[in-house]
Amino acid sequence: MKIAGAAEAAATAAAWRKEGLSIGLTPTMGCLHEGHLSLIRRARLENDRVIVSIFVNPMQFGPSEDLDRYPRDLERDAALCREAGVDMIFHPTPEEMYPEGFQSGISVGALAQTLCGKSRPTHFTGVCTVVGKLFNLLRPDRAYFGRKDAQQVIIVRRMARDLNMGVEIVECPTVREDDGLAKSSRNIHLDAAERKSALCLFKALSSAGEQVAAGARDTQALVRHMRDLIESEVSASVDYVEIVDPDSLAPVGRIEKKVLAALAVFIGKTRLIDNVLLEP
Ligand code: PAF
Repeated sequence: MKIAGAAEAAATAAAWRKEGLSIGLTPTMGCLHEGHLSLIRRARLENDRVIVSIFVNPMQFGPSEDLDRYPRDLERDAALCREAGVDMIFHPTPEEMYPEGFQSGISVGALAQTLCGKSRPTHFTGVCTVVGKLFNLLRPDRAYFGRKDAQQVIIVRRMARDLNMGVEIVECPTVREDDGLAKSSRNIHLDAAERKSALCLFKALSSAGEQVAAGARDTQALVRHMRDLIESEVSASVDYVEIVDPDSLAPVGRIEKKVLAALAVFIGKTRLIDNVLLEP
């Protein structure tokens, strides 16, 4: 397995394509966990060659967000990738991705302005720009994304379609800890008490699922119920709790078909997100 910068990675991927080999890409910001490994394993099953990109993308962090404290551990990540049968890690420098004079970007419309986009107005332009660059550099056949970032998958899929990027976006299920907390690189920041509090995200979503199964259909009441559960945790503060259409991300009033319940919650200083599909 090689660890390559931009020029070498692009040349290697081009050589693989020339040989007729299919390429699966798992884009990550490193600090790999079981969630990433499930994406890598799926890519390994479906492609001749697997690339994992590891790049903490400054463009998707707002000025007061956690870019500096985002966890990084390339050595550990490389060992995990090697074990999972990855062929190449693409590990560019920020200068390679954003050379002096860089001033372009990919923005997506309404899908990027709701949910996380409300409190992170530039986030999805940063995500789409870096993912678009990864696609252009490596030209994968398939790219693998986790459902935990549901809005991200929907936006990236829209972008790939809208801009004819010729890559299949594969969505994989959220991987959870035994108690239900969604795996996230940011969980590393939680101290023992916060780790316990963090369970309120999954508890709120699960409780909403139970209420829908028992006949609840009014999304306002369900959102209030989820908020109350979360706000009863001392270290938790809600960024958003919403129930939306799983394709358009538009708000839903009454649940008549499958909907997406999505939330973002600060546990202390750490912002966590999670979501589930609710079916009447
Ligand atoms: O989900 C992530 O880790 C990032 O948003 C991604 C897709 C790697 C782009 O930087």
